[in-house]
Amino acid sequence: MSDTLKKAVTEALISIIPEGSEQNIVESGALGAVIVDGDQVGIILDFKDNAPHDVQTLRTLVENTAKTVKGVSAVNVVVSANKPQKEAPKMGVGGKSAPTPTNLPGVKHVIAVASGKGGVGKSTTSINLALALKAKGLKVGLMDADIFGPSVPTLVGSDEKPGIKGKVIQPLEAYGIKVMSVGFLIDVDQPVVWRGPRVMGATQQLLKDVAWEPLDVLVVDMPPGTGDVQLTMVQQAVISGAVIVSTPQDLALIDARKGITMFEKTDVPILGIIENMSSFICPSCGSESHIFGHGGAKETAKTIGCDFLGGIPLHMSVRESADSGQPIVACEPDNPISKAYLEIAETLKDKLSI
Ligand SMILES: Nc1ncnc2c1ncn2[C@@H]1O[C@H](COP(=O)(O)OP(=O)(O)OP(=O)(O)O)[C@@H](O)[C@H]1O
Ligand SMILES: [Mg+2]
Repeated sequence: MSDTLKKAVTEALISIIPEGSEQNIVESGALGAVIVDGDQVGIILDFKDNAPHDVQTLRTLVENTAKTVKGVSAVNVVVSANKPQKEAPKMGVGGKSAPTPTNLPGVKHVIAVASGKGGVGKSTTSINLALALKAKGLKVGLMDADIFGPSVPTLVGSDEKPGIKGKVIQPLEAYGIKVMSVGFLIDVDQPVVWRGPRVMGATQQLLKDVAWEPLDVLVVDMPPGTGDVQLTMVQQAVISGAVIVSTPQDLALIDARKGITMFEKTDVPILGIIENMSSFICPSCGSESHIFGHGGAKETAKTIGCDFLGGIPLHMSVRESADSGQPIVACEPDNPISKAYLEIAETLKDKLSI
């Protein structure tokens, strides 16, 4: 049934030719995915380097066209492109035409978890910090801003499809927090959609079209580096602060500085640095050793004048719990590692005066 509907929607979309283009959106390959959930349809358009002139008009046209298909009651369209659309604001940091960031309605604080370098543990930190903040009695959401390599579905062990009402995407609920990721929206058999470098539109929709409210804190798991997603984030939403994750190796610290500089340029306060994999706890004897040279993040924090929030040891249980969708803070709250996350959460809560 859902395949029939998918086919019918795709066929209907063949009639749509974006202004300035010679091909319809199916021919041009812009139609990335059609996701059918009952009578609700999600459509992902990915224009890569050929962003359409008027995204809003196109989005409305696609929505209205899909709605004419029998059996469809609601349609949500996500539009992405590598480059900003013509009428979209410039992506330059602090550029004159950059939009003014706005508060997300009903969300008191947005915390970005970032790093300059990939693979240092941002996603692991994000989920566990989000759960630790929840354990402190706060209403918490977790947004996966890593559009090309979403981790949150694995971290919470869910592949449910979110409900879509009109334009509004309902976040999923996992371990008592609201979660949303592009990974919940795309079809597993359509991975091709999200290849290549990234995307303003999708980031904006994850921020603004998801029914986050009411939240005390929205934790945002950022992709590595300082690309378009980061810029879209700082330009679209008021961010209360950034938490920088780094491993103790020098290289990662240099990269961490890059990440810090980007936030400073855009007036986002740095809440502090977390040193991840700061020491190795031997699984058999429990002894602690500092395989990466301990304390690098603490030193860096001092020299650049930001706070050191704490260290999380390298431990198999962190990885296993993350890979199995059973985050350590939720599933083993008494584990010393969970306690370290809880302490960091307490510090953040104080810093934000929540
Ligand atoms: N403290 C830790 N102890 C053991 N394993 C860890 C720890 N922190 C993270 N890991 C593991 O390291 C890997 C990378 O972590 P994670 O995905 O959180 O990094 P990331 O910075 O989000 O990566 P990316 O830049 O690709 O988004 C994962 O397999 C994760 O389970
Ligand atoms: Mg990640």
